[in-house]
Amino acid sequence: MSTQIDQLIQALNASPENQTLLALVLATCLSEKAMVEASTLISRDDLSFRFDDHDHQLTLAKLCNALSLPEHVIDWTESETPELMFELAVAQKALGNEKEARQLYLDAIAANPTLEDPDNWGASTPREREVSSLGTKLTVISNDDTDDTEMRRLLEPDQKRVVFDDVGGLESVKQQIRKRIITPFEKPTLYLKFKKRVGGGILLYGPPGCGKTLLARATAGECRADFFNVAISDVLDMYLGESERKLHALFENARQHKPAVLFFDEIEALAGKRQYTREATASKLVSQFLAEMDSMSSKNEGMLLMGATNVPWAIDPAFRRPGRFERVMFIPPPDREARAAILAIHISGRPHESGIDMSSLASKTSGYSGADLEQLVENASDLAIEASIEQRKEVEISQAHLFQSLRDVKPTTLEWLATARNYARYANEAGQYDDVLEFLKKHGK
Ligand SMILES: Nc1ncnc2c1ncn2[C@@H]1O[C@H](COP(=O)(O)OP(=O)(O)OP(=O)(O)O)[C@@H](O)[C@H]1O
Ligand SMILES: [Mg+2]
Repeated sequence: MSTQIDQLIQALNASPENQTLLALVLATCLSEKAMVEASTLISRDDLSFRFDDHDHQLTLAKLCNALSLPEHVIDWTESETPELMFELAVAQKALGNEKEARQLYLDAIAANPTLEDPDNWGASTPREREVSSLGTKLTVISNDDTDDTEMRRLLEPDQKRVVFDDVGGLESVKQQIRKRIITPFEKPTLYLKFKKRVGGGILLYGPPGCGKTLLARATAGECRADFFNVAISDVLDMYLGESERKLHALFENARQHKPAVLFFDEIEALAGKRQYTREATASKLVSQFLAEMDSMSSKNEGMLLMGATNVPWAIDPAFRRPGRFERVMFIPPPDREARAAILAIHISGRPHESGIDMSSLASKTSGYSGADLEQLVENASDLAIEASIEQRKEVEISQAHLFQSLRDVKPTTLEWLATARNYARYANEAGQYDDVLEFLKKHGK
């Protein structure tokens, strides 16, 4: 490998004015990550690094950026392709010229969206910047008794980042979310070119404790968006018109923090079927919610709306129209494999014996939700702590502790599944509970 580079350098020494050869040596250094050789070459005076060819310039620019030689990138880059602009952006950033760097980056990704790199450059796109600079301010209307601090508490994005690895099982759901939600978030400019809307809404439903809330947080974590967790009880207000105003303020604020995920947990409290709520005020709130969702197509770009419920049959069907919660996903109780994964997630980070047989535990916990399994580990921890205190030394969580706590923790998803089965059988309008039926069939319930 390095002998190839050595041979190339020898050839170059024989004819240092051969630019094609020089470019080849540099390209080889780049692909072989031979940074020492590259650094020596670049400091040589007998070589000229002014290339006419775009590809050669690009190789050189990449090498110089890798070697932290931003001045050279700026000196030696002449043509203006998006790829070169991107390298110039990196160089300007390294020199501390943030504004210039950002502009170059935006120009580069506008011309070639596949260059977009949110990890290093943040997720904003030119379009979003444009929108956000025009964006409306959160106006607090006078005689509005939603005070500032309260609003901030509602709107403070959650801090701790949760990712898909923290969610056990649910592989197909994660895959769907990745394809339909996360990729569009990461490469918004590309989607914009194809006139695809980024954003939209998805509704998660399923038995309690199976990871709906967790998955919503992980989705936000995966797309590095701000996550606003809205507790419906915080929005509901006894004063006339006040709930609507809070809801509107929530949406407005999230729009200013794009990219953002706005998560409405236990959404049935807000989006209950209008026919069920006889009070006109409640149905007005639903209408307001729908209106906010509908402004999605125009203003809510870069915003993802997620909702979760464990009573999907109580949700107003108007919420499932296109442009609103178009995608409805069933979050089933974990299967055996998923249960083993969830147990492993919750036990990791706690002292435990090696070689615990998760799969035997998983096969004994059919019907347990993720939360039940977490409880199981919690109980086993208690047992280990008790034992530690007794024996005056650290006792790790053992298989026996886990099996012992199995007696105290009961599965909680069965009741939900029984109810859901009735709806799936007798009120399955438009096949909305097909996933539930399929799950029941597969698990022989
Ligand atoms: N798939 C999972 N992987 C890891 N942990 C899980 C999983 N599902 C549930 N848990 C654990 O259970 C807890 C409760 O889960 P979560 O709040 O996401 O449930 P939920 O589906 O939103 O329930 P509810 O309908 O009651 O709101 C989580 O904080 C997590 O610790
Ligand atoms: Mg929840």
